[in-house]
Amino acid sequence: MEKISILFVCLGNICRSPMAEFVMKKIVSDKGVGDRFYISSAATSAEEQGNGVHYGTRRKLAEEGIPFTPRYAVALKKSDYERYDYIIGMDRSNISDMLAFFGGDKDGKIKLLLSFAGTDRSISDPWYTGDFDKTYDDITLGCTALAEKLI
Ligand code: 4NP
Repeated sequence: MEKISILFVCLGNICRSPMAEFVMKKIVSDKGVGDRFYISSAATSAEEQGNGVHYGTRRKLAEEGIPFTPRYAVALKKSDYERYDYIIGMDRSNISDMLAFFGGDKDGKIKLLLSFAGTDRSISDPWYTGDFDKTYDDITLGCTALAEKLI
C-alpha cells in the first residue's frame, strides 16, 4: 500500500517544522499506523540549511516524551510538490512563500497546519517569541486534528 506522505514546512526548518515532524510521527506510531506514513520537514529559506534542530525544540520534545533523531535543516525542493500528498505550512508567510516557490498549488496540497483544527491561525515562531510551549501546544492541536482526518 502506498504510504501517505506529509511534509511540514516552516521558515528555517530548525524549530517548528521538525517539532511537527516528530509530534506527528509519535501520534501515528501510538495509533499503531506509523508504517502507513512517510513524514518529513523542510524550510522555505536556505538560511539554516545543514543546521541541527534548535535546542528549544529538542528540550520541549524531550520534556513531552516525544522521540526524535538528529536531523539537519533542508530547503524545500521543486520536486517536493509531486513527492508529497500534504505540504503543510506553519504560518501564512510559509503558505505564500510556497505558492510563489511552486508556482501555485494545482493539486490543493498546500495547507496551514491549524486549518485541520478549524482555525486560520498561524503557529507563532519560537525563534522570535522564545515560547516553545505555546508552539508545541498549537502543533499538537494541528497534528492531532490531521491524524483524526487521515486515520
Ligand atoms: P523555524 O524558526 O522557521 O520555526 O525553524 C526559524 C529559524 C531560523 C530563522 C527564522 C525562523 N532564521 O531567521 O534564521
